[in-house]
Amino acid sequence: MSTALSQRTEYSQAAGHLISLVGVRRTYGEVPREVVALDHVDFQVAPGEMVAIMGPSGSGKSTLLTIAGGLESPTQGSVHFAGKQLEQLSAKDLAEVRRRHIGFVFQGFNLLDGLTAAENVAAPLEIDGVGIGAARDEANRLLTSVGLGDRGDAFPDDLSGGERQRVAIARGLVGERRLLLADEPTGALDSQTGQGVLDLLRSACVGGRGVVVVTHDPNVAAWAHRVVTLRDGRVESSYRPNPTDQFGAAYSSGSVGAAEHNGGVVR
Ligand SMILES: Nc1ncnc2c1ncn2[C@@H]1O[C@H](COP(=O)(O)OP(=O)(O)OP(=O)(O)O)[C@@H](O)[C@H]1O
Ligand SMILES: [Mg+2]
Repeated sequence: MSTALSQRTEYSQAAGHLISLVGVRRTYGEVPREVVALDHVDFQVAPGEMVAIMGPSGSGKSTLLTIAGGLESPTQGSVHFAGKQLEQLSAKDLAEVRRRHIGFVFQGFNLLDGLTAAENVAAPLEIDGVGIGAARDEANRLLTSVGLGDRGDAFPDDLSGGERQRVAIARGLVGERRLLLADEPTGALDSQTGQGVLDLLRSACVGGRGVVVVTHDPNVAAWAHRVVTLRDGRVESSYRPNPTDQFGAAYSSGSVGAAEHNGGVVR
């Protein structure tokens, strides 16, 4: 690692970031057909911060998210999660970091059709060895926090798009994950339902969880602490839509749920 890069690495860890990408480059394929999906991207998320990523199609948003979540590795640069450099972990340790600490929410929901809402949410805990009873209790608690306490026994086919997305968010949060990564979670939803999902993601920052959401929703600035725009694989801008909007300490305790944060359950 170059000196400049290691200095930047130290800086990003010293600043107490939950996740930090340092000088990340990601290419696909070989020269001359090489595609540069990300080009020297520096990106951080602080505990309790909600960051929105925006940018045109092909600008690298999904690539950034999959690298931040340890699903793919950078071609160059490094990714640090809670003080650990992901590329230095064994495959087993990396899988454990992903499973225990990072939740993913995708536009297509990725719910298992044969499982009820509660079983879908409980599945990551059960895979992790938590007993079925405790896992289901936790799943029901989270479903309640996303306004679906009475829908735990429903199968995905019997839920609306917005409800399925809320189940997917509950599953992304189960087990007290520290980072939630959501790729266009509002893409398939009408704008009002999409606003509810953004509100819910914002509420997921309670207690210090970091949230990264890729979205085309121009209203996201109303929810995010910071908006990062990408263009051609590079960070084009990074700004706080509302500089007085604090995160972290301001959301120091409480459970997840728009109900707590906004005074009402999101529909
Ligand atoms: N597995 C892959 N193989 C080859 N090229 C890829 C692969 N994944 C992404 N790319 C390319 O990398 C670039 C960035 O893709 P990415 O999916 O990150 O964009 P995006 O900003 O998420 O776009 P969208 O808004 O359409 O989802 C694109 O040019 C894409 O074609
Ligand atoms: Mg994408």
